[in-house]
Amino acid sequence: MIVRVLCVVGAGAVLACGDAPAPAPEPAAPERASVEAPVTEPPGPDRAALRTRANAIFGVLPDEAKSASNPVSEEKITLGRILYYEPRLSRDHDVSCNSCHPLDRFGADGEATSRGHRGQRGERNAPTVYNAALHVAQCWDGRAADVEELAKRSVLNPVEMVVPNEASVPEVLKSIPGYVPLFAAAFPDDEDPITTDNMARAIGAFERRLLTPSRFDAFLEGEDTALNDAEVEGLDAFFSAGCIQCHVGPTLGGISFQKLGRNEPYPTDDAGRFLVTGKEANRFFFKVPSLRNVAETGPWFHDGGVAGLPEAVHLMGRHQLGVDLSPDQVASIVAFLGSLTGEVDQVYIEQPRLPGSGPDTPAPDPS
Ligand code: HEC
Ligand code: HEC
Repeated sequence: MIVRVLCVVGAGAVLACGDAPAPAPEPAAPERASVEAPVTEPPGPDRAALRTRANAIFGVLPDEAKSASNPVSEEKITLGRILYYEPRLSRDHDVSCNSCHPLDRFGADGEATSRGHRGQRGERNAPTVYNAALHVAQCWDGRAADVEELAKRSVLNPVEMVVPNEASVPEVLKSIPGYVPLFAAAFPDDEDPITTDNMARAIGAFERRLLTPSRFDAFLEGEDTALNDAEVEGLDAFFSAGCIQCHVGPTLGGISFQKLGRNEPYPTDDAGRFLVTGKEANRFFFKVPSLRNVAETGPWFHDGGVAGLPEAVHLMGRHQLGVDLSPDQVASIVAFLGSLTGEVDQVYIEQPRLPGSGPDTPAPDPS
């Protein structure tokens, strides 16, 4: 039997995700600068005009995805980093967040669907954790409100890490002596700092700085040579094809839910956001994914069913825009998307040494 991965914790556990927001307003038509370049130079793309437009549509990637309910501290990050790599939070001590979202591989495991406890697979592709904290909600269908909520649900998820119940999370963590001072430092005001919620807060705080600025940001900030001509032309093609009807904001997506198959039905059995809201109008709606690092996070789409980025772009044209993009247009857009591959802070993601088990730490349970 295949159990839907993640976020399905049983009836009654539906979250306060709110309704799907209205589609992003269609941006105004491109203001093309008339190309009256000096005769000697070939007229390259008008970087200044494209930059102005791009800054208005995408905006600056921040250093941190801030949260009022979970302010980031260095102590939380230190703890969260360790917990992110902690396999003893899984039933058989063999799966951690990093198994399905490997940080040294742009936060995605390269599989259509990921393997969790006992190799079980869910039905959806694991999206990258990089830049995810900026999204309006988590998961393809927005089932979790934020990264903290999703961290908690992932540990308890019946396919992924499968800790028997919520009470066993603090039990396991308390049995590992090294966690006691780490939780105390991260949550200094708490009498009993080792709780499931604080585990999730620490992992969430760590994720809130997993942001990956790229050459595209340098371009937005004014560095003309940060993108080559092909990439700048690809940005122009991304605008004119209409991708910005949905892929907007600093992560080029992640801020709305849209129907997959808006112009031409897309073959999928997954009802998407409908599974969360129960509203017929949300059937086949998915969170518009971020396009940061998209060249590195294949296979693509919610089911991991698309093996190549050019194919993904071509399908977007057909199903989301009702246009048959030419191979040249596709190649141009793919060149632009490559400029969104960001820098990963190697020190920040370095795999920490895990604290040793204590006498009461439960043994791995392969059942
Ligand atoms: C067995 C594989 C697996 C493990 C282990 C796992 N995840 Fe995931 N994760 C997934 C899948 C699959 C999804 C997409 C689920 C969906 O949309 O229904 C996902 C979604 C996410 C997202 C949403 C990203 C977005 O853009 O919406 C975040 C964040 C995330 N996981 C963080 C974590 C953290 C933190 C842990 C550890 C506590 C973890 N995951 C453990 C497979 C896994
Ligand atoms: C009407 C909204 C809409 C438009 C317009 C749109 N997209 Fe998308 N895009 C989506 C949604 C929704 C998904 C998620 C698809 C899924 O659920 O599998 C997506 C997914 C993608 C993906 C796969 C990302 C991943 O991580 O799997 C790429 C790449 C992409 N879009 C690029 C584009 C490009 C390029 C254009 C313009 C040619 C475009 N999109 C136009 C809504 C849109």
